[in-house]
Amino acid sequence: MSTALVILAAGKGTRMNSDLPKVLHPIAHAPMLQHALVAGQTLQPERTIVIAGHGAETVRTALAEIDEDVEVIVQEEQLGTAHAVAQARDALAGFAGNIVVLYGDTPFVSADTLERMIEAHSDADLVVLGFTAADPGRYGRLVMDGNSLERIVEYKDATDAERQIDFCNSGLMAGQATQIFDLIDKVDCANASGEYYLTDLVGLARAEGLRVTAISCDEAETLGVNSRVDLAQADQVFQARTRMAMMEDGVTLMAPETVYFAFDTVIGRDSVIEPNVVFGPGVTVESGAQIRAFSHLEGCHVSRGSKVGPYARLRPGAELAEDTHIGNFVEIKNAEIAAGAKVNHLSYIGDASVGEKTNIGAGTITCNYDGVMKHRTEIGARSFIGSNTMLIAPVSVGNEAMTATGTIVTKNIEDGALALGRAEQENKPGRARKLMDILRAKKARLKKGAE
Ligand code: UD1
Ligand code: MG
Repeated sequence: MSTALVILAAGKGTRMNSDLPKVLHPIAHAPMLQHALVAGQTLQPERTIVIAGHGAETVRTALAEIDEDVEVIVQEEQLGTAHAVAQARDALAGFAGNIVVLYGDTPFVSADTLERMIEAHSDADLVVLGFTAADPGRYGRLVMDGNSLERIVEYKDATDAERQIDFCNSGLMAGQATQIFDLIDKVDCANASGEYYLTDLVGLARAEGLRVTAISCDEAETLGVNSRVDLAQADQVFQARTRMAMMEDGVTLMAPETVYFAFDTVIGRDSVIEPNVVFGPGVTVESGAQIRAFSHLEGCHVSRGSKVGPYARLRPGAELAEDTHIGNFVEIKNAEIAAGAKVNHLSYIGDASVGEKTNIGAGTITCNYDGVMKHRTEIGARSFIGSNTMLIAPVSVGNEAMTATGTIVTKNIEDGALALGRAEQENKPGRARKLMDILRAKKARLKKGAE
């Protein structure tokens, strides 16, 4: 049976204290709404509908970047969760499949749990996802009747006895589309909040003799984000999960709790990640690479067998081929480093290409920016760039070429040539001692004058 995801994301998120709509706040560099979408994708939905409200246009723009097939419907006034789902009615006219309701601010429901919800739906008309809460707080409570769910009572409307129940409503629900919309028609707002509660569907369904059940998941999956504190906690949950998944996939993490991943980090088997490494978005690392301590990577690709760091920074567009070495205090941006090339110490390589097996000496800088525009530096294969070479782009260095230490390269260097661009050294015999004597005498005079 086909599935339509309806993701509720219209709420204001007052406690975020932010200009950005809550569901766009990032967890591991992706909006939390994107995490919810990714979770939902495991059901291979035919339709995905996001109900937006506060900051709807910003949400729409962000979603267009993430997945252009997602439909956005604006809920002009937030009159409650049932009212929110009702907004999808016209868009889903004629849709006979299932609806799975997700929350945009509950990003961590697992694929396994969603599949269990669908499975449970084969024996029940309506399935609610619950969890046993360590601290049930203000969650809606699931009132069970044996294996069936009798009703959901919101905290505000609950009696003291009902508040003792620790089996809580995650908010996620699955059911057949037309049945859900028919039930929503019967929901009123005669409750403590004056809202149209989606949770009322349970009692209404039971009254019609429909079968309603609840399945349970781990509390971590239902973690909702309402504040910056929750956001930080959500990031920790994401990191913990990703670290485990990475290690299971054959990546060595020497100090897992100090490594931070982005939502899309890909690392190949038998790679080793040392402590305190941070991955920004868009990083792929192939097998058998080594990312040494305190390195920061984003928007880059590291090929098989390469070594990066310690203390390296790979910025967007850094493309390292196989067996490259990028050492300490080296920054690479928008540059291709070919196989076996080495940039080991204190260099900036930006808007450049470095050929196979070329060695870049310590302190080399590609001077790529003239204050207005960026320019490229092309360096050939098997060349040797002496320490402290300044390459003033646009400029090129051929194959098997060399630059002498301290050279300021302003002209292209052809294959096999040595560029020597620094003032010639002259040694003055005995001059150092004389100079010292003069300076010492001067210092003594000054001291005397001051007394
Ligand atoms: C809801 C549930 C509660 C459950 C809890 C889990 C209801 C009535 N209550 O309560 O049983 O334990 O979630 O977190 O459903 N939203 C809209 N439009 C609206 C109202 C809400 O899109 O008009 C969205 C919100 O952005 C949010 C979600 O629906 O993503 C839940 O709304 P919220 O106001 O947080 O409901 P709770 O009071 O937490
Ligand atoms: Mg809530």
